Amino acid sequence: MNEEYDVIVLGTGLTECILSGIMSVKGKKVLHMDRNSYYGAESASITPLEDLYKRFNIPGAPPESMGKGRDWNVDLIPKFLMANGQLVRMLLITQVTRYLDFKVIEGSFVYKKGSIYKVPSTETEALASSLMGLFEKRRFRKFLVFVANFDENDPKTMEGVDPSKTTMRDVFKKFDLGQDVIDFTGHSLALYRTDDYLDLPCLDTINRIKLYSESLARYGKSPYLYPLYGLGELPQGFARLSAIYGGTYMLNKPIEEIVMENGKVVGVKSEGEIARCKQLICDPSYLMDRTTKVGQVIRVICIMSHPIKNTSDANSCQIIIPQNQVNRKHDIYVCMISYAHNVAAQGKYVAIVSTTVETDNPEMEVKPAMELLEPVEQKFVSISDQYAPTDMGAESQIFMSRTYDATTHFETTCDDIKDIYKRMTGTEFDFAEMERKKNDIFGDVADQ
Ligand SMILES: *[C@@H]1O[C@H](CO)[C@@H](O)[C@H](O)[C@H]1NC(C)=O
Repeated sequence: MNEEYDVIVLGTGLTECILSGIMSVKGKKVLHMDRNSYYGAESASITPLEDLYKRFNIPGAPPESMGKGRDWNVDLIPKFLMANGQLVRMLLITQVTRYLDFKVIEGSFVYKKGSIYKVPSTETEALASSLMGLFEKRRFRKFLVFVANFDENDPKTMEGVDPSKTTMRDVFKKFDLGQDVIDFTGHSLALYRTDDYLDLPCLDTINRIKLYSESLARYGKSPYLYPLYGLGELPQGFARLSAIYGGTYMLNKPIEEIVMENGKVVGVKSEGEIARCKQLICDPSYLMDRTTKVGQVIRVICIMSHPIKNTSDANSCQIIIPQNQVNRKHDIYVCMISYAHNVAAQGKYVAIVSTTVETDNPEMEVKPAMELLEPVEQKFVSISDQYAPTDMGAESQIFMSRTYDATTHFETTCDDIKDIYKRMTGTEFDFAEMERKKNDIFGDVADQ
């Protein structure tokens, strides 16, 4: 251990593993450690099922009806990948896709007045949807055409909308869209968690709707992808990338101290030995006194033996319950996957309900989602604190990730990765440049 590294990384969550992979590829000498014996940290996929029961202190062993424990890989934090989103781009650039297999999620649904509807996001779907009346459909269709044609570099496409000034509220007004349509557009297409976006300039929202539509256009059924064997495969894929480029991985390493000199990190002490480093990346759990609590998320993992009602028996789907529909400030999400993704025993489904906590009775808050899932055979409830760094690393050279939020895709995680990258290196994470240089940098990986 008594070696000098450019970067030491603590915790094998997805954010840490992606950064470790990127830094190794860029020629940095990286040491990556985790106190746990498994990859993924807070975002691990738990296997076998017996371990999930233990982790949540459920007494007794899983009943025989749950099948073989080894057939289960249950994500602690449910998320899907947007087919055209940033994580897929990172996977393609780094060619980590070679270690993974994906399936498209079969449907995306939205909740309105107690029932669920397929999210319409193309003109054809909008016209066929029972979510809207006839005139509303025409206006929504016009809105979708406007968004699809909108080009922030071409004023001719803007129909008088100023992308950096006009608020989204005014854009909705321009197309005369009603509250229900605004709800599902903002929450199921643009994937906002609150209504704050309504009073901000419209460009971000327009780009988010484009991301949704373009992701959907790739595979048709939904804009989301999910890896076979669970999300735990993602950090492991990037860890393999790092290892190919000389990164050193050590699991099961208790971390005793983060060693500082004159306000700057110089190393990490584990099992009595100090490994030295110039920069440190870690998740909040390794340095709690440099973080602040920013909220709480409730997640309920539900095991069922049936698909969700009114989803055409989809073996995977997402349901968004917009906050307005249930008098809340934050949306409630349901992510469902099943044996079809090798994360559950034959015939079993895993639905994970999540939302940002608003009251002191969070289980009551998720009731509208739980009602959609009945009957549930076994549930596992967690309420986790979310942390964000207070130390941005300029002096300490310590770069910490944020705890995963309640969103059901990886876009905010990727924003965090790009932000850390910029603070560490002083340069923007440039997708386009990495795509151009992909063959120079990664061409040789294929031979390993
Ligand atoms: C399911 O569909 C039926 C028939 O259209 C409808 O009456 C019911 O409200 C729906 N339930 C949900 C939860 O969507």
